[in-house]
Amino acid sequence: MRSATCFTVIAILVVLAACGGEDEQQSAQPDTTPKATIRQGGLLYDKFWKVSQAAEPTTTHPLWVKRPDAATNTRTGSTTWRCKECHGWDYKGVDGAYAKGSHRTGFAGVFGSRMSAADMRTSIAETHGYKDAGLSDLEIESLVLFVRSGLADTAAYIDEQGAFRGEAERGKRLYERGLGGGKACAECHGLDGLKAPKASNADYDDFVGKIANENPWEFLHKVRFGQPGTPMPSAVTAKAPVKDILDVCAYSQTLPKGR
Ligand code: HEC
Ligand code: HEC
Repeated sequence: MRSATCFTVIAILVVLAACGGEDEQQSAQPDTTPKATIRQGGLLYDKFWKVSQAAEPTTTHPLWVKRPDAATNTRTGSTTWRCKECHGWDYKGVDGAYAKGSHRTGFAGVFGSRMSAADMRTSIAETHGYKDAGLSDLEIESLVLFVRSGLADTAAYIDEQGAFRGEAERGKRLYERGLGGGKACAECHGLDGLKAPKASNADYDDFVGKIANENPWEFLHKVRFGQPGTPMPSAVTAKAPVKDILDVCAYSQTLPKGR
């Protein structure tokens, strides 16, 4: 009896060890299938042709003529294809920052959308015309993922006066050392935020302190996802805590707006 039990136990252990070995072998092979990501969706939402094979559009977006307020935002061409131009940096469209100012279109936002993933895929690909514009199925999937689970409730980050709800003093350290172990803002933008990052235009003046104060919603989007087509890191990809993002943004608002 005893030796039979013993044998059974050993047999089970051998099977378990064999299974474990197989598992290790499987996980050692990296999965290289490209996947839709929230970060890619966030970059595409900003300016898709900087991060896609799709070319910069030469036409005006097909839905542009339908804007409820056609008098205020008279832009034409590729700009009208940026998701943010109709839905806003705060994702709230006419109910958010684009309620007034030169970007007002009257279009609604996407924040809090209850659309199913399938309907959203169709809306973005077909109704909006992004499939014809050259976006791949994978890119459309990233946009769906971003809208359904990557949007920030900007009111939780930014108060009614446009100030970030963070601690500037703590943010200084993060600005100078990096978010989530990534490269520090200061390394590319300078300690004072007035340095032009590598490869920017000679007339560069989108300084950290300027954008943080003039458009905190845009600023938050760039910090969370990065600047399309540049090596700027993404706080979301780095899994930086919301508190760290808030603090680095609050510190950025204390930096000079110009030289
Ligand atoms: C030219 C303006 C315009 C642009 C640019 C635009 N949209 Fe829209 N979007 C609309 C309009 C208008 C609607 C609502 C009516 C409709 O579906 O025809 C809408 C609706 C949506 C909805 C559905 C929200 C809901 O629950 O009702 C989603 C999601 C959406 N857009 C995502 C995007 C994404 C992602 C992009 C960029 C890839 C984008 N939109 C670019 C105009 C625009
Ligand atoms: C690896 C370098 C790098 C790092 C690190 C980096 N950025 Fe950037 N960032 C860039 C580049 C390049 C641009 C695009 C500049 C241009 O428009 O020519 C940019 C653009 C921006 C913009 C959009 C306005 C603009 O300047 O064009 C903001 C806002 C911004 N960065 C803020 C930050 C903040 C805050 C951090 C830290 C959390 C940070 N960046 C980290 C390289 C970097």
